[in-house]
Amino acid sequence: MASKNRVLRLLSGLLSVSLCRAIAIPSSAPASAAPLDPSLLSVSLEFFAFPGYTALPATANCLANLAALRGAPPAVRIGGTTQDRATFFPGLNEAVNYTVASPADAPDSLMFGPPFMQLAAQLPGEVTLGLNRQLDNQSASLAAAVLAKQTMPNLFAFELGNEPEFYASNSPIIVAGGQGWSQSVDAASQKSWFETFSRSVGSVFQGAVTLSWSAGETLTLLGTDGAALLKSLSRHSYPQSACGGAATNLPSLMSHSGIVSYTRQYRSEAAQAHAAGIKYFLGETNSATCGGGGISPTFGAALWIVDYVLQGALNGVDRLYFHQGTISNCAYCFWGQTSVFAPYYGAAFVSEFLGSDGATLAMLDDGTGAIAAYAVFNTAGRPVRVLVINSSYYSGTGTRATSAVVLSGLSAGTTTAQAKRMTAPSAPATSGVTIGGSASFTGACTRSGTQAMESVAVSGGSATVSVRASEALIVFV
Ligand SMILES: *[C@@H]1O[C@H](CO)[C@@H](O)[C@H](O)[C@H]1NC(C)=O
Ligand SMILES: *[C@@H]1O[C@H](CO)[C@@H](O)[C@H](O)[C@H]1NC(C)=O
Ligand SMILES: *[C@@H]1O[C@H](CO)[C@@H](O)[C@H](O)[C@H]1NC(C)=O
Repeated sequence: MASKNRVLRLLSGLLSVSLCRAIAIPSSAPASAAPLDPSLLSVSLEFFAFPGYTALPATANCLANLAALRGAPPAVRIGGTTQDRATFFPGLNEAVNYTVASPADAPDSLMFGPPFMQLAAQLPGEVTLGLNRQLDNQSASLAAAVLAKQTMPNLFAFELGNEPEFYASNSPIIVAGGQGWSQSVDAASQKSWFETFSRSVGSVFQGAVTLSWSAGETLTLLGTDGAALLKSLSRHSYPQSACGGAATNLPSLMSHSGIVSYTRQYRSEAAQAHAAGIKYFLGETNSATCGGGGISPTFGAALWIVDYVLQGALNGVDRLYFHQGTISNCAYCFWGQTSVFAPYYGAAFVSEFLGSDGATLAMLDDGTGAIAAYAVFNTAGRPVRVLVINSSYYSGTGTRATSAVVLSGLSAGTTTAQAKRMTAPSAPATSGVTIGGSASFTGACTRSGTQAMESVAVSGGSATVSVRASEALIVFV
């Protein structure tokens, strides 16, 4: 036995040298481990489409699956471009009404009524409701906020306006101010609206809600008295754009080192929000703007979600709200009318890794290679799961090299560990994703098939696992 162990240790040593992949699991959470919000992975629903989403069985089921895995429901933000096209009518007996030329279109203008808030009140997680500022109808948005406050026990915050940097120059809010539009004019407008609304609903706002303007700069412009009206600061984040036919790139989306360097840009404004005593969210995010090109509905995007959510947490992002747009006309959506799409598997897999006991997170690699490795720790600071992602792009043709990652620092007395794998035929595949060998989700987002664990031999506190290109593995330690 002793000599066999020695051989295994020798083998492990050789593997770690030849593959440069030895990952040491800390026996307790390092001081640098990042805290994890229970709703780290959350969801943003496009304003006009929200009532439609509540009518899909997949919506409740997809959210419930994530809640069961993480032990807390995802938070929901209702908003987006159409929040700034919507006017509240207290007498309207429908959640929304609008006309569109084709069901694939978003409306240019819409009304919403009290049933909208009743639907929002039924969501299991905390809800952030996006209201209109662009049309400068303050009394309508204020009436909506007052009713939402009365109706929704799950209310977290209100947004007043979405991505104001993109308002058309003839927007009523710009014309009415008479001083043009800039980040400082917008910040003054946000502050004035927050002050007015706070007299009726309290200090429950989500500030900034910008994509290209720095949310940290808006927070500075709001000042200490403005920040005191906020619960959270929201920055929108899309690593790629498919707007105007721009080219998207899946290998670069899913690259671990690319995700590490992209997400680092949020670290300083997250720290600024926390210093102001408020939460910092990527309040609307997904893979690529303007529909997502070809990359968004893929398994590679599922791997991106796993890595990006964890990098968000490491950089101080309390929650990432993955945007869901027009039902069944949305490349990056987790689910649609009758289907659950590949990215949802990433959301489920990272929720399983975080688990109901995950309290803090550490990255175990140096962020410069293709292999990502993370450990999640419980409240007692013990490592409970390790995640390994091989973010190398597998196109589906050619060999999918199998190689090994050596994990050390497992309990010395353990002889076997359990592991669960997420894989698919290739990174660009849009179907065929499995978790645990064969399990998947039905079109209504209920589980189908059985998830199998893999057994990993552990010897002397070390284990060797194989993670092929474009695959991820959770090891339960
Ligand atoms: C929306 O509802 C209002 C009030 O009931 C009605 O006057 C209007 O025609 C409706 N608009 C659409 C597009 O359905
Ligand atoms: C503001 O919204 C109300 C409905 O809440 C509507 O009756 C009114 O006409 C709107 N005002 C303007 C200036 O559009
Ligand atoms: C990740 O995948 C690449 C490409 O197939 C492969 O060469 C590499 O060895 C894999 N890395 C590990 C640690 O498994």
